Amino acid sequence: VNNNLRVHVPVMLAEVLDFLAPEPGKIFLDATVGAAQHSGAILKQIIPGGLIAGLDRDSEMLYLARIYLESLDVPSEAWRLFLLSYKDLDKAAEALKIKFDGFDGILFDCGIASLHVDSADRGFSFNKDGPLDFRFNQDQNLDGYKIVNHWPEKELKRIFREYGDERFSGAISRKIGRERKKKKIETTKELADIIKYSIPPKFRFSRKIHPATRVFQAIRMAVNDELATLTEALPKALKSLAVGGVCVVLSYHSGEDRIVKRCFAENAKRSKWDPEFSLLTKKPVYPGEDEVKQTPRARSARLRAIRRLRIENEGDADRGVVYSGVRMP
Ligand SMILES: C[S@@+](CC[C@H](N)C(=O)[O-])C[C@H]1O[C@@H](n2cnc3c(N)ncnc32)[C@H](O)[C@@H]1O
Repeated sequence: VNNNLRVHVPVMLAEVLDFLAPEPGKIFLDATVGAAQHSGAILKQIIPGGLIAGLDRDSEMLYLARIYLESLDVPSEAWRLFLLSYKDLDKAAEALKIKFDGFDGILFDCGIASLHVDSADRGFSFNKDGPLDFRFNQDQNLDGYKIVNHWPEKELKRIFREYGDERFSGAISRKIGRERKKKKIETTKELADIIKYSIPPKFRFSRKIHPATRVFQAIRMAVNDELATLTEALPKALKSLAVGGVCVVLSYHSGEDRIVKRCFAENAKRSKWDPEFSLLTKKPVYPGEDEVKQTPRARSARLRAIRRLRIENEGDADRGVVYSGVRMP
């Protein structure tokens, strides 16, 4: 790990802790542990007796998480890390092999970690030249190179628009189509330049963000199938909550937020008189101005939270697979 890397600053930490209300003895799941900055703060408040499980689908992030958590003055039994996508969060619950009735809190922090942007070889960044990678999980086959060089222009246009909210999606995808016929597009810098010169000059330099930001985000979301993964994971997360447990999601993109909003609303609405879930945020909560100044990554963050009030389906208790501790041999 390169020591020059900026430490990852956790987004909306105070708000996250407010909603999750960690206390000694509670059991938490951090679905996107990253550099474990949120997890570490939770961990300090759940000892003694508590436990936090952290998932990440990127082994480099887990390595960072481990170094950070080991540096804290907390018992090592109080945390566990798993190389898993959050869509498989039930497997982590199973692997914990403890007796419990669900998580007291679950956190999703869907953004990108500073490490991803800061290390050129992972190919997430247009400021540093690197291969067109964009994968969280290095074992996966689909990467940014395949999308940029082989996906039909029409598909590129769609993902730039849908995942990047890019207004020049047509012009950019056409230019990519032309350029890749001449020569395959190999690096993040080449791609960033192509994007820069496909948008009208007056927008090229006037935007507050680098002209390639939106397209890079879109490619990352497509490579990692981020929206589908979140759609699959959230209902599982809600089912894994204990009564009184809270699920908090930080999202950074309108498509992501829409998925969270819809899933939470559906679950809170299902039974009007005796609801199983209660929305804690009717509207999303945004970071304060000071935080946005200090942590640019927080700029687009939105927080939503929901609490489980009861377990609707008694069959849920039988989710023995999920709560291996409950299903005693
Ligand atoms: C914004 S970072 C989390 C930072 C963390 N909250 C902290 O305080 O250090 C998001 C993390 O989620 C991970 N991630 C992305 N998609 C994932 C998935 N489907 N399952 C598990 N982790 C995922 C990324 O690898 C990244 O490390």
